[in-house]
Amino acid sequence: MINVMFRRLFTTTIRNPHDNPLGLPKNNSRPAPQIPRRAGGIEPKRSIPNVHHVLLVSSCKGGVGKSTIAANVATALSLLPSRRLRVGLLDLDIFGPSIPTLMGLKHAQEPEVSTSSGALLPVTNHAVPTMSMAYLLPRSQGSQEDTPVVWRGLMVQKAVQQLLFQVDWSFEGKYPPLDVLVVDLPPGTGDIPLSVGQLVKVDGTILVSTPQDVSLSDTRRGISMLRKLEIPLTGIVLNNAYYLCPTCKDPNPQYIFGPPASFHNTARSLSLPVLAELPLVPGVSISGDRGVPYMLIASQDEDGKGSTQWRDRMKAVVSQTWEDIQAKRKARESS
Ligand SMILES: Nc1ncnc2c1ncn2[C@@H]1O[C@H](COP(=O)(O)OP(=O)(O)O)[C@@H](O)[C@H]1O
Ligand SMILES: [Mg+2]
Repeated sequence: MINVMFRRLFTTTIRNPHDNPLGLPKNNSRPAPQIPRRAGGIEPKRSIPNVHHVLLVSSCKGGVGKSTIAANVATALSLLPSRRLRVGLLDLDIFGPSIPTLMGLKHAQEPEVSTSSGALLPVTNHAVPTMSMAYLLPRSQGSQEDTPVVWRGLMVQKAVQQLLFQVDWSFEGKYPPLDVLVVDLPPGTGDIPLSVGQLVKVDGTILVSTPQDVSLSDTRRGISMLRKLEIPLTGIVLNNAYYLCPTCKDPNPQYIFGPPASFHNTARSLSLPVLAELPLVPGVSISGDRGVPYMLIASQDEDGKGSTQWRDRMKAVVSQTWEDIQAKRKARESS
């Protein structure tokens, strides 16, 4: 009897209400979540008006240098010798747009609207036309920087569709179509990359990671989503791979975020070409904050050899990417 009372006092059959509050499956016997289908059936993927090739820059994790790389890839592509490519830059990071800052356009006027088509006209700096949600936000003290986007999913999807399909990259026919539109995606596997993957014909994707394991595991998740959406992947860049101290006697690279071995293992296991290991260079960050892509001003004076290594590797990334997206485009057209 005492035994029964004792058990009653110290055990309970009431389930803890905080157990598994989302009702997610507790074991692995259920299938993994599927990519949601679009309401109203599957629409065929479309081309973006006045754009020949679409190149995504995706990182799966925030803060790894994706927008910086997107801005510099766009600039470097437009500077490719003897190509004279027309390159645009679309910022689809709706909640954290940074392309206006990186391209020196944070105080830009609101974009004009084409009188003939009603499409938005891009805003240009450093010879690269750009479009970003930030240009369309109400301003506080002349800049869009402090205005947050507080939106639910449907509004975000509508904005993404408009930014993708209702921007006139030809400026009412004054310029030829873009050879390449570089798209800065937000981090992660959320609504926005999903919409882009389902709506747009894409020709290539540059993935960006840093050496840390947290970044690499997010990268794996992102790649799996991009592959499910049949988005072509060009290759992966290891950003902040090493540091070359400009004033130290030791000329060797310092792997301050860890050696690149697990990055290379990950890339190999995912059959992803490695496009470059880019060094951490203080000037990249300083010039980005000043609104000038480092590609335009890389100099050994302040940043030492890291500067030239960063610039040469970035040039190699864009040459390889340009070859790859043309080949993928041809293959897509002939299939
Ligand atoms: N190779 C690099 N060397 C030095 N700083 C860098 C480098 N790449 C990126 N950064 C800096 O890291 C910060 C995050 O970069 P950002 O492009 O905004 O990342 P993300 O778009 O992935 O969130 C920025 O301050 C940027 O200037
Ligand atoms: Mg960013």
